[in-house]
Amino acid sequence: MSTRLIDPFGRTVEYLRLSVTDRCDLRCFYCLPGDYRNFREPDEWLTFDEIERVIRAYASLGVQRVRVTGGEPLVRKNLPALVTKLAGIHGIEDLSLSTNAVSLSRQAAALKTAGISRINVSLDSLRTDRFKDITKGNLDRVMEGLMSAKQAGFYPVKINMVIMKGVNDDEVEDMIEFCIEHNFTLRFIETMPIGDTGRNASSHYLSLQEVKSRLAERYDFIPGVMPGGGPARYVQVAGTDLRIGFITPISQHFCETCNRVRLAVDGTLYLCLGQEHKFEFRPLLRAGISDSELVDAARAAISLKPERHEFLEKPQQLVRFMASTGG
Ligand SMILES: C[S@@+](CC[C@H](N)C(=O)[O-])C[C@H]1O[C@@H](n2cnc3c(N)ncnc32)[C@H](O)[C@@H]1O
Ligand code: SF4
Repeated sequence: MSTRLIDPFGRTVEYLRLSVTDRCDLRCFYCLPGDYRNFREPDEWLTFDEIERVIRAYASLGVQRVRVTGGEPLVRKNLPALVTKLAGIHGIEDLSLSTNAVSLSRQAAALKTAGISRINVSLDSLRTDRFKDITKGNLDRVMEGLMSAKQAGFYPVKINMVIMKGVNDDEVEDMIEFCIEHNFTLRFIETMPIGDTGRNASSHYLSLQEVKSRLAERYDFIPGVMPGGGPARYVQVAGTDLRIGFITPISQHFCETCNRVRLAVDGTLYLCLGQEHKFEFRPLLRAGISDSELVDAARAAISLKPERHEFLEKPQQLVRFMASTGG
């Protein structure tokens, strides 16, 4: 049987985003409600052994890349131990991490040793007060985390900035200069209407096409660098090493090249960030499914992948928060 996973629309799935917790030590207003309490209970979380089994099944079917995310992945206890297990799975060639970096300075070296090779850090503002308004967090700790990632040898370190009109769109140029100075890659993201928080934040939606045109007046962009099969369309800023990725799920969706699925902490596989199509692994794992049956289930789940998101057509349909699927 084929070791490639082809979905009903002919796309090859080779990338899995793994959410290791739905909890977070920040409260970005567009992601998690400040008073949110409805987290999964720990006995509903997949154990490290259960996660390893599901990832092993997918690796045997051609998944090569796994991104560890959350919630905030660094709040999951003993994360390096999980990373070590994942790094040992035959077929997994690339392990990366998405984090808010609040507690990265304590864990960067251990995560590098365990097998994480690339890190993405969320950073929406370089101003202490504004950062606090957006996230309720402390910018100094994030900066410490970022610098420790560099020191630990992660490359590239990518900064993810959600650009919001009237919130931080006046900081785009500052962020570009910051990334040039520190040799980080920069990615701009459009606000998505995910959960009530995301829908509320839609009032700050700003098309990245607009941002790009504005920036093109000041910077020379060389298009088409870093094709990576991901959603970002990259340009290089001429005369610098800086690469900027534009992630435009709303203004120019990229569903026709979608190569990914998302495993939530409770064992639910979500087939699309913007749809409810899902497959539950936890009941199977806890009922004693064999490894070969698990591979069959992993393959069958991919047949549920929908063609595209419908953020614009049905913005009210998605009740889960971004923190439960890991972005
Ligand atoms: C849910 S977070 C999880 C990983 C980690 N806590 C972090 O912030 O990087 C993953 C990404 O989703 C983005 N995100 C969350 N809610 C969003 C929304 N409504 N629209 C666009 N991006 C969103 C965050 O900015 C972050 O870059
Ligand atoms: S975007 Fe990341 S850091 Fe911000 S609240 Fe969501 S999970 Fe936490």
